[in-house]
Amino acid sequence: MTFSQQEQQISREPRRLLITGGAGFIGSNFVHHWCENYPDDRVVVLDALTYAGNRQNLADLAERENFRFVQGDICNRPLIDALLREEAINTVAHFAAESHVDRSILGPDAFISTNVVGTFTLLDSFRHHWENQGQLDGDNSSENRSNYRFLHVSTDEVYGSLSSLDHPFTETTPYAPNSPYSASKAGSDHLARAYYHTYGLPTIITNCSNNYGPYHFPEKLIPLMCINILLGKPLPVYGDGQNIRDWLYVGDHCHALDVVINKGQPGETYNIGGNNEVKNIDLVHQICELMNELAPDLPVRPAEELITFVKDRPGHDRRYAIDATKIRTELGWVPAETVEGGLRRTIEWYLTHRDWWQPLLSDEYQAYYNKVYANA
Ligand code: NAD
Ligand code: TYD
Repeated sequence: MTFSQQEQQISREPRRLLITGGAGFIGSNFVHHWCENYPDDRVVVLDALTYAGNRQNLADLAERENFRFVQGDICNRPLIDALLREEAINTVAHFAAESHVDRSILGPDAFISTNVVGTFTLLDSFRHHWENQGQLDGDNSSENRSNYRFLHVSTDEVYGSLSSLDHPFTETTPYAPNSPYSASKAGSDHLARAYYHTYGLPTIITNCSNNYGPYHFPEKLIPLMCINILLGKPLPVYGDGQNIRDWLYVGDHCHALDVVINKGQPGETYNIGGNNEVKNIDLVHQICELMNELAPDLPVRPAEELITFVKDRPGHDRRYAIDATKIRTELGWVPAETVEGGLRRTIEWYLTHRDWWQPLLSDEYQAYYNKVYANA
């Protein structure tokens, strides 16, 4: 019996999951986590395979029984209706999103479509599916439907920006999103909340801090720095580099989501964070030090010589920090990984998975990169 199963200490009915965005960074880590821990559960992944989705992230699961990959858009209502019905889904784990702040500044449209309209489409389809199940079951409906869950995976960025003296975000911190990305995620959170309060749909929202680890797309801070060091390219630090993020190893996030699905209360929100606040510039120095140690043939050594301060991101939030007291005290979750340990594991992964990230540096990616760092 695995750790997660022991932790539940209860016998469980197999779940039938629809995991949206399961070919992306956190989604694919979560799919692996779930398949390893709950081999009897049915796992259906729905992913549009945008620039951020990668079939390779799930390649080892392709032949697995109990696993199905469907390429499709969460805005496609007939497709969602059909999948929920034919797969008898009782659990949705919703990761699919446009997720990068810099892209949301260049072009917000896709963020509204996927994050707001797509989440609405899923919620409404799942509501009808759940209500139909109730009608089919008659008197047994509440018992048979007690297992249904809609996990809405969201971000701490909906809470806006903290000053250095502010208390970290709690579940009751007012929403104050500052980027098109965080505003679209805030909109989707409100819909998930409303579907619980209006229809009784068993939704749960999680708001997590910055993740890092394997399968992280090259545009985000940590992989971008690792890859640029390996290529001998400048390391672009926005503004004065004093912005603070609360970093969480992706495996810890997946474990937290597992606990929330199995033990969380419908209608509740849980903040998830690593209690690891680090200034960007300090993090970049840590990455450089680890690269100097672990990579024998760097084009530029020491890697710190590549650090370049560039024009700040518009609306750049100063500090994010999570107060994870609720999930710790109510559900017993705490992160297992330190930033030092997690960064080392992550850098080792990028060093040994050049064949994964090299093809992602496509012409499209290069065009995006040139636009964002045009004034660098
Ligand atoms: P990602 O960009 O790596 O992956 C997103 C996935 O969604 C991709 O596989 C993409 O193909 C898919 N997708 C996009 N639009 C779609 C659509 N219309 N229909 C179906 N699939 C679509 O993102 P991520 O970093 O793995 O984030 C996953 C979720 O976690 C997001 O909801 C994000 O807001 C949230 N989150 C991320 C972080 C973080 O640090 N990365 C932190 C907290 C919360
Ligand atoms: P990012 O990984 O984009 O996550 P988010 O914006 O969702 O927090 O960025 C993390 C931090 O790193 C953020 O403060 C912006 C900063 N950053 C840089 O300084 N340079 C870069 O090239 C990138 C991508 C991010």
